[in-house]
Amino acid sequence: MQIQATKAWDPEAFSFAVVSCSQEETEALGRAIGSLLEPGDVVTLSGELGGGKTCLVRGIVSSVAPDSAALVSSPTFALLHEYPGQPAVLHYDCYRLHGIDDAFEAGLEDQLQGNAVYLIEWPDKISEIIKNERLELLFEYDGETSRRISFLPHGPRAIAQVKKLSSWCFAPSF
Ligand SMILES: Nc1ncnc2c1ncn2[C@@H]1O[C@H](COP(=O)(O)OP(=O)(O)O)[C@@H](O)[C@H]1O
Ligand SMILES: [Mg+2]
Repeated sequence: MQIQATKAWDPEAFSFAVVSCSQEETEALGRAIGSLLEPGDVVTLSGELGGGKTCLVRGIVSSVAPDSAALVSSPTFALLHEYPGQPAVLHYDCYRLHGIDDAFEAGLEDQLQGNAVYLIEWPDKISEIIKNERLELLFEYDGETSRRISFLPHGPRAIAQVKKLSSWCFAPSF
C-alpha cells in the first residue's frame, strides 16, 4: 500500500492531500477514516463522477458497519443507502436532487440531526442543511487510476481526525 502525500501537512490550513493509485488504496483510506468516526459525524465527498467517492464510502462502511460493506454500490438512483452498524451509516448520493426543496421533501433536514455517521456525495446540492462541523473530502482525477484526495476539516473534531489521518498516511507502513 502506498499512499503518497502530495502536499506536506499544513498546520496553518489544517489540511493535506494524498494521491491514491488504485481503488484498493482509496478503500483502505476509507477504512482509516471510518476507524475515527463517531456518532453524529458528517463527511462530505465532492468532485467529479468517477472520482472515487463511492469507493471511499465502501471503505468507511467496511470499518463502521462491516456486515454491510459488500452492499455499497456506485451511483444508483437511490438518494439514501442505510447500513446498520454501531453507529449506523447513512450514505446520501445527492447527484439527482434538483434542489434544496427535494431534500426537504425527502426529510433530509431531520435525518441529518441524528446519531448516525453521515456520508454525503454531491453536498453542494444540500449545503443549507449540512452542519458546519464536518470533514470535507475533495476528489480530483490525477491520471487513469490515480486520484488526488484532499482533506479539509471544519471544526475541532474534524481537525483532530485529519491530524491523525495525516500522521498515519505519512507513516511508511501505511
Ligand atoms: N485510485 C482510484 N481510487 C478510486 N477509484 C478508482 C481509482 N482508480 C480508478 N478508479 C475507478 O474509478 C471509478 C470510481 O468510481 P466511484 O467510486 O463510483 O466514483 P464516484 O462515486 O466519485 O462517482 C471506479 O470505476 C474505480 O474502479
Ligand atoms: Mg458516487
